[in-house]
Amino acid sequence: MHNTRVELLPIFDDNYIFVLINEDLQSAVVVDPGESAAAEDFLLKHDLTLAGILLTHHHTDHIGGVHALKTRFPCPVYAPVKNKTQIPFADHYLREGDIVTLPPFSFQVLELPGHTLGHIAYWNSEHKWLFSGDVIFGLGCGRLFEGSYEEAYHSLQRIKALPPESLIYCSHEYTQSNLQFCRSLSADNNSPLSGKAMTLEAYATELHNKRSHQLPSVPLKLGIEVTANPFLLARDVAQFRYLRELRNRY
Ligand SMILES: [Fe+2]
Repeated sequence: MHNTRVELLPIFDDNYIFVLINEDLQSAVVVDPGESAAAEDFLLKHDLTLAGILLTHHHTDHIGGVHALKTRFPCPVYAPVKNKTQIPFADHYLREGDIVTLPPFSFQVLELPGHTLGHIAYWNSEHKWLFSGDVIFGLGCGRLFEGSYEEAYHSLQRIKALPPESLIYCSHEYTQSNLQFCRSLSADNNSPLSGKAMTLEAYATELHNKRSHQLPSVPLKLGIEVTANPFLLARDVAQFRYLRELRNRY
């Protein structure tokens, strides 16, 4: 096993840039650099080279730093093929089932439409890491800007089918605000959290332990997330839609 780890760089109000580090080669892969300064500073400070940049979707808070970062640290940029128009500066365009190899890391591409139509996630089966952009959040899911409820529901079901020990690297720290919404659902008979107040409070205790020590709630553990995330627990598209519409108005 190589000597690897994932570092989280907080940017803006609640975004994370992920830096995957290969200590043996002193190289890194950066996921969704919404701005460049934080990533540049980190790479310089830790004397890392940049092997590649992975992009999940075209929103500015995920791609805004690519140009400056690539200028400073020349490397290949990977992006969803369906976002070729919005991300014309990538070197490689990816679709379902493609494999990205940036030694010692390898990623399988999953197309997960909903938040946007072209949205992809990067799955590393060796470590069971999923870099999922804005598809899923702690106790929540991404707002549907482009995709249908059917697409978003199906995308979440695909995440749910990954091994329970999977670590979900989602791009925003939204878990605490989503917890408030979920508490309101535990009294709603039409919600999958109905009667699950104890499960939710166990989740809340764990979350509070992390956040009170300024630790991120990310990565999410899928095995925990499937017990309390209402969008993963939705029994069908109709219930998913009901929850998403409630969340939009919350
Ligand atoms: Fe987004």
